[in-house]
Amino acid sequence: MSLWPEQNALPVVEPPLPVQQIRQDFPILDQMINGHPLAYLDNGASSQKPLAVIEAIDHCYRHDYANVHRGIHALSERSTAAFEAARRKVQTFINAEYAEEIIFVRGTTEAINLVAQSYARPLLQTGDEIIITVMEHHSNIVPWQLVCEQTGAQLKVVPVNDVGELDLDRLASLLNGRSRLLALTHISNVLGTINPIAEIITVAHKHGIAVLVDGAQAVPHLALDMQALGCDFYAFSGHKMYGPSGIGILYGKRELLERIPPYQGGGEMIEAVSFEKSTYAELPHKFEAGTPHIAGAIGLSAAIDYINGIGMQFIAGHEHELLGYASETLAEIEGLRIIGQAKAKASIVSFVLEGIHPHDIATVLDQQGIAVRAGHHCAMPLIKRLGEVATTRASFAMYNTPDEIDRLAQGIEKAKKLLA
Ligand code: ALA
Repeated sequence: MSLWPEQNALPVVEPPLPVQQIRQDFPILDQMINGHPLAYLDNGASSQKPLAVIEAIDHCYRHDYANVHRGIHALSERSTAAFEAARRKVQTFINAEYAEEIIFVRGTTEAINLVAQSYARPLLQTGDEIIITVMEHHSNIVPWQLVCEQTGAQLKVVPVNDVGELDLDRLASLLNGRSRLLALTHISNVLGTINPIAEIITVAHKHGIAVLVDGAQAVPHLALDMQALGCDFYAFSGHKMYGPSGIGILYGKRELLERIPPYQGGGEMIEAVSFEKSTYAELPHKFEAGTPHIAGAIGLSAAIDYINGIGMQFIAGHEHELLGYASETLAEIEGLRIIGQAKAKASIVSFVLEGIHPHDIATVLDQQGIAVRAGHHCAMPLIKRLGEVATTRASFAMYNTPDEIDRLAQGIEKAKKLLA
């Protein structure tokens, strides 16, 4: 199986992104941290929010806020209309066939837990298998461990090679008559590896195995097309794609979502309730118990408009250049090793420096106004497989610049001098 031919064919994008103009849209970037201009390179953890998102949330609470789907009054109608328009915005953004395939959840973690408990748990019997990969975030490991404990199913794990690419032959050989679901990440949050999920989904479907994709790291960087991809479930969060935290999406194929039981019970997800028996609402409300994050959905919709206004191909092109520049620049630093050298990578660079703990590097960088993440990145099994205890990670977004990468490199040199 070839790895991600699309990535190698990424077109040179002209004209380049007007990055300085874009930075004006993100007020938080314009500040000093520890006496230095902020260089925010922790976008893999969470990205910053443009004014359009901040103002959409502000507008909602100032003018249009009430609970949704309940009130017979003007504000509730306006709020409901904006909330449902946000659902359709997400549908178009990821090219889902139906709006009811878009379930609002708290984030990627809740989306995966929903699938584990509502889809997998009723299906699984002792000896059945769930397949994941070594490069998963804890949120795509622990929900499956829980459901395996509950059902007697087993977890099977696809290995990675030393550069951080999945062993696709092993993946194919793990698919068998006992496999019930393959759950894997689209892009590794530690390594930046872009997995060839279209091909993987095709192979899994040939064996009749459903696929869940953790798209938390992919959705700000790649154009997504659920119908072309054909995956069964796709999960992502608003806060990594310039939207608010506390709102995320589970995409699921309609026929699957219709078939499976609700995840949580409560108001809004019912059709009728009696002490003898309750019946459930139609999709998507069946999976949206309780008052949802209304302003969050509206903010997410504004984030999608913002991304669309710039164009995902331009964002991806800019980030690809940043990745190339960062990889070359950091590789020149003596004693620095980049962790994750897959052929297809998104704009994430993890590294270790000989003899210096990543937390110490991050602290010295912070003193220079540079925000990165250090640690195991919620992916302990992957870090262990790569023979590390932690890494320092710089992750780039549309508003980052080569100048910030130069500052990162200078900051690392300074950390070496101070800590070596
Ligand atoms: N999953 C987020 C990260 O990779 C928090 O940093």
